Amino acid sequence: MARRFILDCDPGQDDAVAILLALGSPELALEAVTIVAGNVGVDRGVSNALKILELAGSAVPVYRGAPRSLCRDYSLGDRFHGTDGLMGLALPEPTRQAEPESAVPFLARTLSAAEPGSIDLACVGPLTNLALLLIQYPEATRGIGRVAIMGGAIGLGNVTPAAEFNIHADALAADVVFRSGLDLTLVPLDLTHQALATEARIAALRATGKPTAHAVAELLARYPKLEKFNFAGGPLHDPCAVAALIWPDLVSGRKVHVEIDTTSGPGHGRTLVHWWAKTNGPAANALVLDRIDADQFYRHLTARV
Ligand code: RIB
Ligand code: CA
Repeated sequence: MARRFILDCDPGQDDAVAILLALGSPELALEAVTIVAGNVGVDRGVSNALKILELAGSAVPVYRGAPRSLCRDYSLGDRFHGTDGLMGLALPEPTRQAEPESAVPFLARTLSAAEPGSIDLACVGPLTNLALLLIQYPEATRGIGRVAIMGGAIGLGNVTPAAEFNIHADALAADVVFRSGLDLTLVPLDLTHQALATEARIAALRATGKPTAHAVAELLARYPKLEKFNFAGGPLHDPCAVAALIWPDLVSGRKVHVEIDTTSGPGHGRTLVHWWAKTNGPAANALVLDRIDADQFYRHLTARV
């Protein structure tokens, strides 16, 4: 039985692949895509989500969410995803537009009407939309099942030495989410840096001959090889969060306490992960994943997109 599923994202190259993975996976019934500013502005994110959905022939609705963070304007992604957010991949302009309803009221209405715990979420951009929902419509969260979050790091960050981009972009929102008591699964850089888009994996996507898989291969091939990390390929962050919901056996980690550094110093946006939990330490509030079977993940991804 497919789980009801909503993806909150800032497309974004890897967000786009997460959309296609969700669409191609029978375990999830993707019923909406909500957009938050992050890699690109929220309107560009809406357009990119619609382009990707139409590439896959999907009529899944898109809802426009937060155009900025709770406390300040986003420092939009440093063009890691190209100025258009899709690495310059030429896709037809979308024929649809975003739904007239904004993302947070849509989430509140949908979750309030849902069976308790019946809708899983993946949040793969800044957490502003989810935080606004928690603040403004706390009763709606009863409809939420699992929440997979791509963000944070047990170790080093990527946008600063301390912080990963999604959390850093709206640390106050992340703080609201990690204090919420929701069933959180954190998919940090320590895991996503194992899921590298190597030449062989890109070639396997191309070999399928599927237009959507070819688009994914193009997106991955254009991702900077990140010399700074000395990687054999770009890390495919966001689909790992969707994969954690679909194939829990592919990943592993531990339930620990996570707190967000919201101070204005060099640690701003850090996910402080109590990995070596002390018996009398703070209660666990998230399943933090630090391992993925990357080969199996890419085999599944190639079959699904
Ligand atoms: O740090 C990686 C995350 O930031 C990914 O979600 C990527 O899309 C960007 O949003
Ligand atoms: Ca993202």
